This record gives sequence, structure tokens and C-alpha cells, in this order.
Amino acid sequence: MRASADDAPESLGRMKDIETFVNEETRKNGVGILKQWLGAIDRTRGHKPHRTIAICNQKGGVGKTVTAINLSAFLAAYGHRTLLIDLDPQGHSGVGFGIDTEAVEHSVYDVLVNGGYPVERAILSLKPNLDVLPSNIDLASAELELARFEKRESRLKSLVDSLRDRYGYIVIDCPPSLGMLTINALVASQIVIIPVTPAFLSIHGLLKVADTIDILIESFSLKIRMLFLITFFEKHLREAQLQKERLERLFGKDLLKTIVRKSTRLNEATGRGISIFEYDQYSPGCQDYMNLAKEIMEVG
Ligand SMILES: Nc1ncnc2c1ncn2[C@@H]1O[C@H](COP(=O)(O)OP(=O)(O)OP(=O)(O)O)[C@@H](O)[C@H]1O
Ligand SMILES: [Mg+2]
Repeated sequence: MRASADDAPESLGRMKDIETFVNEETRKNGVGILKQWLGAIDRTRGHKPHRTIAICNQKGGVGKTVTAINLSAFLAAYGHRTLLIDLDPQGHSGVGFGIDTEAVEHSVYDVLVNGGYPVERAILSLKPNLDVLPSNIDLASAELELARFEKRESRLKSLVDSLRDRYGYIVIDCPPSLGMLTINALVASQIVIIPVTPAFLSIHGLLKVADTIDILIESFSLKIRMLFLITFFEKHLREAQLQKERLERLFGKDLLKTIVRKSTRLNEATGRGISIFEYDQYSPGCQDYMNLAKEIMEVG
């Protein structure tokens, strides 16, 4: 007999963790159960202090948005109240969750730029434990508009501070630049995850990003942990292996143990507006982002 969404909370109560559940349920019931299940969980586990995590790299197309989407989905599935803030005018985090970002009435722009704007109007509840503060092209002018504020670099921090009692995790998807929006994300966060593809030029650019973040940390006296995440990994490529070893030498314990493999299923899931967790639990991307969520929960 196939398990139904109604069975999930009870099954959850008995199981050790999500991984056990995924393995057992997929063996017994095949594909599809997690899709129902994500919609059925509504339970928040006891949690240590709130964490805000920025996903940041000036380089485009390294997997920031896919990481933001799937890390948020797994943190929520693990029972943590999670908010995903899209801080990129491209609006891809919202799109990746099936939101028509150009049609949303209120976005992160309103909250950041219009003082005192009620954030509740802009937050969308997507799934149990998972909310999104979407963005769209309106945010493109925010880089300039923020310049007129006195504490321009801490506008997002004020917002995040007002929400910290409501969420275990806030995940921020940054644009591919190190402008005022990204500075706001870093000032608001305790952890920054920097996705990096294992390629020579990618790492060359990464060192500059890390230096710039170091300067920001010093200038604004930030207490932020910088963690590096290998994405688009292809085990069979010698160059990828070599660059992985180089990253291990460069960053040591700041390189996350989780490695996100290249997987077209991740691309397909985003295109369908759902997380990899709902789309294909057999895919490497599902396993990798599950591992990332677990590793981040352990960072504390
Ligand atoms: N591990 C992966 N395997 C295969 N495709 C991936 C992977 N991660 C991301 N992609 C795909 O690569 C493209 C770029 O990913 P993504 O949008 O997450 O990058 P980004 O760093 O957010 O880009 P931008 O800088 O433009 O915001 C997307 O089409 C995405 O679906
Ligand atoms: Mg992106």
C-alpha cells in the first residue's frame, strides 16, 4: 500500500531523520511520496539560535539561486521555520518556487526602500515552514536609492532582526555583484556560503571575492563565518578533481564537506518551480542538498 500525505506526520514522529525516511519510503513506495509529504509536514523542531545565511558570489551562474532554493526547502523540511529572501532583481529564487515575480504586488524592494513598510504584506507562505520574500526588477534601482539613507548598509539587517523570532533560518539569495544589496546581505548574516565551480578561472575570481568580503568584515566589524561550497562537480573530470584539491588546500575547514554535483535534474526542478526535494528524490542533487542542510545545521 502506498503511503499518503496524511501518513507523513506520524511516520515522521517515528523516524530518526529525513534521510532514513527518504530511503525507506522511496524503497517501499517509489517516487512521488516526498512531493506529497513536503506539503504535509507542519512541525517545528526545537532549534538553537536563529541563523541568517547569505548565498553570495560576484560571479554569475555558479549555483547561488539553486543553493538558496534547495537549502531553504531542506531546512524547512527538517522542521525549521525558514524564510528565503530574494535579494536579486532577476527574481530567480521566486521563479524557482513557481512565483510570478512580475505580478507580485509587494516585494523586498518595498520593504527595503520604503521605510516602515509592513513586511507581512510582501512575505508569501509557500509550504509548511517555508516563506519567501520575493524580488523583481523593481529592486534594480535599490542599489542607487539606498545611497540616500544614513545607515544604508544595515537596512536589511533591521528587517532581519525584526523577523528573527519568527524564523529558525533566513536564507538570502544575493545578486552576482558586490554592490549595496550584497553588502546589506552580509551585514545581516552570521554565515555566508560562497558557491564555487571547480574551474581555474572561477577560483581566481573567488579569491578576489573572499578578499573583498574580508575588507567588508573589517570595515563593518562583521561577525560572519565564510564557507565555500563546490558546485557543478563532475567527478570524472581530472580538472575538477585538481581544482577541488586546490580549494581544499586554500580553504581547509572553511570548505564545506558537501559537494554539489552537476545534475540536470536540478535545472529541471527550478524550471518547474519546485525544489529538487519535491521533483526527484533519487537525483544526486537531492542527496547533495540534503547533506548541505545537515552540514549547515551542524555549523550552529
Ligand atoms: N549543480 C547543478 N547542476 C546542473 N545545473 C545547475 C546546478 N546548479 C545550478 N544549475 C543550473 O545552472 C544555472 C545557473 O544556476 P543559478 O541560477 O543557481 O546560478 P546563480 O549563481 O544564482 O546565477 P546568477 O549569478 O545569474 O544569479 C541555472 O540554469 C541552474 O538551474
Ligand atoms: Mg541567482
